[in-house]
Amino acid sequence: VTERSAVQSGAEVLVASNRGPVSYALGEGGELSARRGGGGLVSGLSAIGPEAGAVWVCAALGDGDRAAVRRSGGLLDTADTGGQRVRMLDIPAEVHAAAYNGVANSVLWFVHHMLYQTPVEPVFDAGFREEWAAYEAYNAAFAGALAEAAGPGAAVLVQDYHLALVPGLLREMRPDVRIAHFSHTPWAPPEYFALLPDDVQRQLLLGILGADRANFLTERWARAFAACCERALGPDCTAHWPRHEPPSVVAGPAAHRTRIGVHGLGADAEFLRERSRRPDVEERMAGLRAQIGGAGRKTVVRVDRTELSKNIVRGLLAFRRLLADRPEWRERVVHLAFAYPSRQDLAVYRDYTARVGALAEEINAEYGTATWQPVVLHVKDDFARSLAAYRLADVALVNPIRDGMNLVAKEVPVVSDAGCALVLSREAGAWVELGADALTVNPYDVGQTAEALHAALTMPAEERSARTARLAAAATALPPARWFLEQLRALEA
Ligand code: F6P
Repeated sequence: VTERSAVQSGAEVLVASNRGPVSYALGEGGELSARRGGGGLVSGLSAIGPEAGAVWVCAALGDGDRAAVRRSGGLLDTADTGGQRVRMLDIPAEVHAAAYNGVANSVLWFVHHMLYQTPVEPVFDAGFREEWAAYEAYNAAFAGALAEAAGPGAAVLVQDYHLALVPGLLREMRPDVRIAHFSHTPWAPPEYFALLPDDVQRQLLLGILGADRANFLTERWARAFAACCERALGPDCTAHWPRHEPPSVVAGPAAHRTRIGVHGLGADAEFLRERSRRPDVEERMAGLRAQIGGAGRKTVVRVDRTELSKNIVRGLLAFRRLLADRPEWRERVVHLAFAYPSRQDLAVYRDYTARVGALAEEINAEYGTATWQPVVLHVKDDFARSLAAYRLADVALVNPIRDGMNLVAKEVPVVSDAGCALVLSREAGAWVELGADALTVNPYDVGQTAEALHAALTMPAEERSARTARLAAAATALPPARWFLEQLRALEA
């Protein structure tokens, strides 16, 4: 009751994102079980903690969530959320599906990660327009809920490409609140962003420019955003990137100024070190050691959602190339590939998941022996097992086509027991901070990636430990709680 009245009387800090910190599964008897939400955004924001007093506004994503909203009246039980105040919005399922699957994940995600095969896609026709209308409605629902819950002059931190229109809509409803938008993805270069219909480009950009601050994970993505604004919005818009002052974009007849911020989310060392020493992780390590087998065998680890941008197929091809070109590694190395199902409502993700599984089987059939399985693929999401693999890894393979940051690259060096060499795509945001001590690869170049795996596997132990220590320091420079506070302070300044 106290918590509800606190929200009604007006929250001072609000966070808005599609996926919230918790999701609910509906049991056969109608009982609900709560589970921590997944993904980089949730990992980053979960560290805020209840003491920050923020209200987190998110969408109901399935039947379990919808039942939880009905049960709680929208403000979730804090016993399920780790003490955080979470308001879940029950947006009609078909509106959410069109906005999330249709626009956010099939169009905006594809644009920012440059995933289209452009001779045949994208095609923007009547179907897209219907989905776009749903995206507008879904953004309007968030803006309305935020406008209602925000106290006078509140700080509202809107997350990601799902909610690009929210800052503009909210500013109209509540000019008193301070608004920040954070992009957890890369931002497309202007030529690629120009694939989108012109009016959609304008709406997305002006939506974000409704914020006081537009924040990004790296300067590269921030500059791409500013370049898109100038190109798509024309003479009405100017990007300022002075050498010694914060950058900004000024747009519209009222010359509204949006400051551009770069906040490179880091790994949470304290949490990871404590969590990775718990008995369940030790247990998983024993299990993985048994699967790896063979005394002295090396391990190449990858941990991803099964996501097109993560480039899992080329990672497997590179491992196959390593075994083909350098037969000395046969029987001596195992690739632990964790590829957790994601966005399975979309056919292209289901096909990709199947391709990953088939390729792992092909490699095992081609090279495996009675005593050695070259690729061990796990698809069931298990955080304790991911941590166990981080601790054991000799080499971590992080080769995305494009990635806003990539927290796996930052988590492995923090948790590693004996030092781990990092093979890292130059297209991951994390490369900016970790590139100096990683083995850098062009994610499309399978041959180069195979050679980098070989170099990583043969790296002398002292060099590996020294690099791991430097990687861990760089990876934890801005832990999640400070990352969040930094944005809040910048918004208040
Ligand atoms: O910014 C990327 C993001 O929103 C992160 O939360 C996470 O990496 C991923 O996308 C989650 O995707 P989804 O919510 O569609 O599973």
